Amino acid sequence: MTLPIQRLYESLRRNGVARFMEHFRQMFPDTHMKDLVVEASGPGRIVQIQGRRVVNFGSDSFLGLDQDPRVKESIIRGVEKWGTHNGTSRAFSSVQANGDAEAKIAAWLGMEASLIYPSVTLANAGAIPGLVTKTDVIVADEFAHNSIQEGIKIAKSNGTRSFLFKHNDVEHLEETLKQARPYKNALITIDGVYSMSGELPPLKAMHEVALQNDAILYVDDAHGTGVLGKNGRGSVFENLGTYENVFVVGSLSKAFSCLGGFIGCPREFQQLLKIRSNSYIFGGPVPPSYLEGVCTVVDLLCSDEYERLKSKLQSNLDTLVAGAERLGMQVLGGLTPIISILIGDEADTLQAGRFLFEQGYYVQSVTFPAVPYHAGVLRIQVNANHEPEQIAGLLGALESMFDLAKMAGPRLAA
Ligand SMILES: Cc1ncc(COP(=O)(O)O)c(C=O)c1O
Repeated sequence: MTLPIQRLYESLRRNGVARFMEHFRQMFPDTHMKDLVVEASGPGRIVQIQGRRVVNFGSDSFLGLDQDPRVKESIIRGVEKWGTHNGTSRAFSSVQANGDAEAKIAAWLGMEASLIYPSVTLANAGAIPGLVTKTDVIVADEFAHNSIQEGIKIAKSNGTRSFLFKHNDVEHLEETLKQARPYKNALITIDGVYSMSGELPPLKAMHEVALQNDAILYVDDAHGTGVLGKNGRGSVFENLGTYENVFVVGSLSKAFSCLGGFIGCPREFQQLLKIRSNSYIFGGPVPPSYLEGVCTVVDLLCSDEYERLKSKLQSNLDTLVAGAERLGMQVLGGLTPIISILIGDEADTLQAGRFLFEQGYYVQSVTFPAVPYHAGVLRIQVNANHEPEQIAGLLGALESMFDLAKMAGPRLAA
């Protein structure tokens, strides 16, 4: 007899993305390089995958702080001080390190308050529905991160109406807000950095549209945190010169190399979000040791050392972008440490990633459905602790890859 659980499995694997991924694995068994296992990490940006030691160009630890002895030590000290976890929702109690980290984050941003969630995904899943009611609307960029879209789904199920506007299109944003009337309040949800393309939104124009249309800007700056702006406080203040009428979400996992996400907000909203975010109330918090790590990272970002780290990152990024462009590659992004090199065809994109891996460089091959069909890219994440010879080596491997592609004709995988 077939058990219901087996029938469930059979129907799920034939459905949507699961069917696509299965097909994908069958078509490209040797080149798909998804679901990888890193067997060892360090020193620096070296990782071991499938027994091979390669330079990792797939890490969001943009400042290389995952390997910083001070950050590591503060997390280890945190475990000794607090144990591995405090084991309760913050709706009941928080450890001192929580308040310390939130106060430090707020002071670093220059905002009144901040609230930490276990991840940016959970910040968006908690704060977005928490900030609206049935009389409000959410207007989202069509390419806003999946976690924003998921947060909107929860808000919709609570009765809030939602709309999409064309990517980075200020006129369409305004038009969409006008069509969404009547509403009491509107939340405009966007990314601070679109991580698949490296594009930035026209923040100033969107802020003005928000002010003129009874709307509030909600910027998920996960990839800008630690990387853009003065002392790495992100893209928002740098572009707007104010935090008025804006919520800022940031990551504690990417450039921070710790764990979690935060929302920067006026003080009264911090209290309100504690009681209106289900992911905050009904889920566990970031372990205290990681909050100690977060405090150490904020101190580093606020110190003179930040400029040194940032200039190393910038120099690596500039060298890579200039080198790739010299090779005639179509480079997307480059304003932040994620650059995408357009390859196009899915098989070619996977083959290109595999080729670079065999040359000793791991980069991510990104294909449909993460990017449009036939718009596959090599996604390269540059870190401050990549050595100049590793950047030069990757450029050399990219050059060989393109020479081979030219010899093979239009298709790398031919
Ligand atoms: C804009 C944006 N929001 C949220 C996330 C998810 O963050 P987390 O891993 O903390 O859930 C990402 C991850 O890349 C992102 O780019």
